[in-house]
Amino acid sequence: SDRYAVFGNPIAQSKSPDIHRLFAEQTGQNVNYQRQLVELDGFNQAVVEFFASQGRGLNITAPFKLEAFALAEHLTQRAETAGAVNTLWLNEHGQLCADNTDGVGLVDDIVRNQGWPLKDQRVLLLGAGGAVRGVLQPILQQNPAQVVVANRTAEKATALAASFAQFGPITGCGFADVDGRFDVIINGTSASLAGDLPPINTSVIHSTTACYDMMYGAEPTVFLQWAKTNGCTKLADGLGMLVGQAAESFSIWRGVKPEIKKVVKILRDQLA
Ligand code: ATR
Repeated sequence: SDRYAVFGNPIAQSKSPDIHRLFAEQTGQNVNYQRQLVELDGFNQAVVEFFASQGRGLNITAPFKLEAFALAEHLTQRAETAGAVNTLWLNEHGQLCADNTDGVGLVDDIVRNQGWPLKDQRVLLLGAGGAVRGVLQPILQQNPAQVVVANRTAEKATALAASFAQFGPITGCGFADVDGRFDVIINGTSASLAGDLPPINTSVIHSTTACYDMMYGAEPTVFLQWAKTNGCTKLADGLGMLVGQAAESFSIWRGVKPEIKKVVKILRDQLA
């Protein structure tokens, strides 16, 4: 069978091997996918060794997405823009190719699975770190009316917005300066991990606002609880994004796109 792996540090928590096993079963592909703990100073060597020993493809998770970007010889346009990659493979010339599938995973989940269009909508993104940078171009490609990036550190949001202005209508600000109502709010801060809520005013949401958290867990995140308390009924966590980015990687490697919904359901049941 063809060998794949996910590299990270830590890595024990990664669900990618389970997801790709389900994809392989579903599509009848002969795939062996393992998780690999990589030493913090050993990333480049581990990648070289993996492909030298007939490895076919890698997913890259924290903290190596920037190093993977730097190592790649060929980048897709969206990987180039994101400045970080999560998918590696070799082309027919043996050159290391890289993509970032996080944004497509997110947009696919929001637009297709949840059925919340982004076109002509006012979209608020919370956070200005790697997670948000990685998804901005695919979001702007949906032709939203406006994207506002809000962050605890306002300067990071304005700088990020400026670097994506060529792709569509986008501005940045601090949490306190967000105003107007939004159709879609996406939480891309790591605040949920600490059980924190990004301090945004409740005036930005109304009952039809769709609220999405890139994080997920057995219980609704604090952000989704906050949205629900404020009357929102369109709520989703990041499990669909996780499976969506994996499906896009699988499709790059194997040329066949697995069905996302069934796999999300299996993972959801395992979380409970
Ligand atoms: P990631 O790869 O998850 O995006 P990151 O690049 O370290 O990680 O970015 C973390 C993001 O979460 C940042 O936008 C950060 O805000 P700052 O830029 O002001 O640091 C945000 N964040 C982290 N903890 C937060 C908290 N408790 N409240 C609000 N925002 C938080």
